[in-house]
Amino acid sequence: MSTAGFDSITIGHTNTATGQREHEVEMPRFGLGVWQMSEGGECRNAVQHAISSGYRLIDTARSYANETETGAAIRDSGVAREEIFVVTKLRQPHATSYEAALEHCRSSLDMLGLDCIDLYLVHAPPEDIDARAGVWKGMEECLARGWARSIGVSNYGAHHLDDMRAYAKILPAVNQVELHPWNQRPALRAAIEAIGAKVMAYSPLARGHKVGCSNLVKIAESVGCTPAQAAIKWVYDTGAITIPKSSNPGRIDENIASLKVDLGGTKSIFNSMEEAYVSGWNPTAEP
Ligand SMILES: NC(=O)c1ccc[n+]([C@@H]2O[C@H](COP(=O)([O-])OP(=O)(O)OC[C@H]3O[C@@H](n4cnc5c(N)ncnc54)[C@H](OP(=O)(O)O)[C@@H]3O)[C@@H](O)[C@H]2O)c1
Repeated sequence: MSTAGFDSITIGHTNTATGQREHEVEMPRFGLGVWQMSEGGECRNAVQHAISSGYRLIDTARSYANETETGAAIRDSGVAREEIFVVTKLRQPHATSYEAALEHCRSSLDMLGLDCIDLYLVHAPPEDIDARAGVWKGMEECLARGWARSIGVSNYGAHHLDDMRAYAKILPAVNQVELHPWNQRPALRAAIEAIGAKVMAYSPLARGHKVGCSNLVKIAESVGCTPAQAAIKWVYDTGAITIPKSSNPGRIDENIASLKVDLGGTKSIFNSMEEAYVSGWNPTAEP
């Protein structure tokens, strides 16, 4: 347990031929998501504030157009590079081939200004089904070359993960998917665990859409925290890697403080909140 209150977790890859675990690394189980943070200061300030408040995991993506500020904030933070875990993603429109995966990994490294990415994800299942095997082979090559310390996927449904058993040499270390009290996804979580991967939960506040939910407000009052803290802690308590986004320094602090919240006695009300709510896109349902 870190002083900021979050655990770390061991992620790794199952070799499909031998069943052995490969390339295991430790990653923090809590961090900052930086989607919708603009360059021009917003992203840099938020990442710097988060690191100074104890965050050690930053989740960006090529499609967020802020890898440059994310990398600069990490380099300028005064915290040793190896203490900060950096996640970025291969854009779905870039996920077209083996070569494209390598090319875009290199350009993410250049934009971040870092020697390696701690976890590199395919942002969503490549649209061209025939390209999926080649793209994953490219991801495996990024790992082999040391450009990434671990690789994974995002927005893969159970059928996409199952298909990977036929073409992957090693299976993903994580699948990053939308997960929160209004979309609890027990079947998908089980499918992720079944391939030896970890669940990485995005949009724990359903993109902020659900912070005013009356059940959430009731829970927060009963345990003495804010509604956002109750939702974040529910996600964290599932065992998932949890990455709320905020550009606001007060909320960045509020969100990390959620790790100290005790949600004891609230299980049945959280269970009743399930409504399969999708806050944005849902590529897990794509063919
Ligand atoms: N792989 C994918 O396809 C995917 C998709 C979506 C997200 N993600 C990742 O997951 C991260 C988090 O998800 P998200 O950005 O979609 O949504 P989120 O974390 O569920 O919610 C963020 C929204 O909630 C607000 N907020 C944050 N803390 C709050 C608090 N304590 N009280 C009230 N409102 C609060 C934020 O506004 P302020 O900034 O103004 O505080 C923002 O509008 C992303 O940043 C990204 O890294 C990945």
